[in-house]
Amino acid sequence: MKIVGVCGSPRKGNSEWMLSKLCEELSRGGVKVEMLLLRKMDVQMCRGCLSCEKGGKKRKGDCVIKDDMAGVYPRLLAADAIVLATPGYMEMLSGLLKNFLDRTCAVWPRLEEKRIAGLAVAEEGIGQTIQNLKGYAKLCKMRWMGSVSVLAKNPTDASRVPGLERRLKRLAQKIIG
Ligand SMILES: Cc1cc2nc3c(=O)[nH]c(=O)nc-3n(C[C@H](O)[C@H](O)[C@H](O)COP(=O)(O)O)c2cc1C
Repeated sequence: MKIVGVCGSPRKGNSEWMLSKLCEELSRGGVKVEMLLLRKMDVQMCRGCLSCEKGGKKRKGDCVIKDDMAGVYPRLLAADAIVLATPGYMEMLSGLLKNFLDRTCAVWPRLEEKRIAGLAVAEEGIGQTIQNLKGYAKLCKMRWMGSVSVLAKNPTDASRVPGLERRLKRLAQKIIG
């Protein structure tokens, strides 16, 4: 099994910690895991040209923008599951992750039936963040495996939340199972 984890925080903080813990557990379960830290990647804004739709549902994963997404498309297509991790920004997913999801326009019809799960963290209220991720899963006809969300503010706060690691392990088992 191959899983791609995508982190949409611009800092090394809570979302990244949660995704790492989940990925550790997945690796222990024998899964080949790749983590994409969007904060370190060159993923430019979608220009809305829709050139990527050529080929319809069998589109090739070809975008006119030549940046790090060129290497991401084949990995998404090869994955059995995708995990999206994001901080709650204005009670929604982060701009970094939203931009990444927009850029998956070049492959999204081919993600059908793959598994997907979400991780979210916010200081006071998760708001629509998990709903945003679920909406993407529904659009792509992916199989929603569940989510873990937590309240935390400063970068290392989530790592001190009692029981959080256990919840992440449980989600990992669900994704694999
Ligand atoms: C631009 C911005 C918007 C935010 N909006 C919210 C919000 O709507 N609700 C909330 O509870 N926390 C909000 N936060 C706080 C973050 O969700 C919180 O600090 C979280 O731990 C960040 O996750 P990270 O460590 O993975 O980056 C916001 C933070 C930033 C920088």
